[in-house]
Amino acid sequence: MKDIYILGIETSCDETSCSIIKNGSEEISTTVLSQVDIHTLYGGVVPEIASRNHVKDIVFVINKCLTDAKMSMDMIGGIAVTYGPGLVGSLLVGIEAAKTLAYIFDKPLIPVHHIRSHIYANNLEKELKFPLICLVISGGHTELLLIKDHFNITKIGSTLDDAVGECYDKVARVMGISYPGGPVIDKMAHDGKPIYDLPIPLNDDSYNFSFSGLKSAVINLYHNYEQAGKTIDKNCLASSFQDVVISSLTTKTMRALKEYNVNNLVLAGGVSANKGIREKFEQLCKEKNIDFSFPRIEYCTDNAAMVGAAGYFLYKEGKFTDLKLNADSSAELV
Ligand code: KG4
Ligand code: ZN
Repeated sequence: MKDIYILGIETSCDETSCSIIKNGSEEISTTVLSQVDIHTLYGGVVPEIASRNHVKDIVFVINKCLTDAKMSMDMIGGIAVTYGPGLVGSLLVGIEAAKTLAYIFDKPLIPVHHIRSHIYANNLEKELKFPLICLVISGGHTELLLIKDHFNITKIGSTLDDAVGECYDKVARVMGISYPGGPVIDKMAHDGKPIYDLPIPLNDDSYNFSFSGLKSAVINLYHNYEQAGKTIDKNCLASSFQDVVISSLTTKTMRALKEYNVNNLVLAGGVSANKGIREKFEQLCKEKNIDFSFPRIEYCTDNAAMVGAAGYFLYKEGKFTDLKLNADSSAELV
């Protein structure tokens, strides 16, 4: 079988990235420029600043990726690009770059949903095995998906309010930690003990999640201590918060694996970098003989390698689009 090289482009939020992936699983070269240091100054991603930086960086990352790979465009099978969800101005920069390359070099243009990409970050580690349950945990999404095949995806649950990453970032902000606070809370949690009592959210029979009540409980507890002039142990608060998050995510995910009789679990999205969440799932999956996979740390957050991996399977099915492709800031995967 002829090898297929997909050039992936990702600009949905604050990372400008280009990657070349062989046959959906082998990384040839990836360039990621993160704007995180710029947005930290403002406490979160500023959309206008994000799109301007994508414009500044996009040609550089594409050129660097091709140069590092020692490849020219005639070796590329197709151009895969994130079309949504994400920040519309940011998405448009990647889409225009992808369209330009597709037009000039006469390559198929492959639109990729951002969550599909996060799922396929796992395929860069080991081949996805179906059926699988995927827990998507990112800054914008918290979803449980039942995936029977590449194109047979059912959403069985999702957050009713905040996404888990958003909740981490808001809790961190109250504690004076700059954006993105998720990784810092994760580290602090490991240095603390879960001594504070926090409510377990949406402890019901559904596969849905809720994090806004937990977020408010943490913030109220923090402010109550401040107002009473007492010091709260921040590491222990982080640990108490993280414990509840882990319990909520693992309880529903493990129940879904059992109920749907599925033996493969994959994590996807920025929060799957969380050490506490990975460790607990590893332990539970070992006990239940479930095959567990998560992306390597640097590909948990946004990057184009996962776009190239997902794009390959869309390429094989001929799921191309024309040059009218537009950004869809709230695109649904299913
Ligand atoms: O997937 P992603 O890069 O962007 C979206 O598509 O939303 O995820 C970013 C989110 C941020 O909320 C960040 O705080 C969170 O992932 N995150 C973490 C960790 N690393 C990144 N949250 C908890 N623990 C971590 N180690
Ligand atoms: Zn993402």
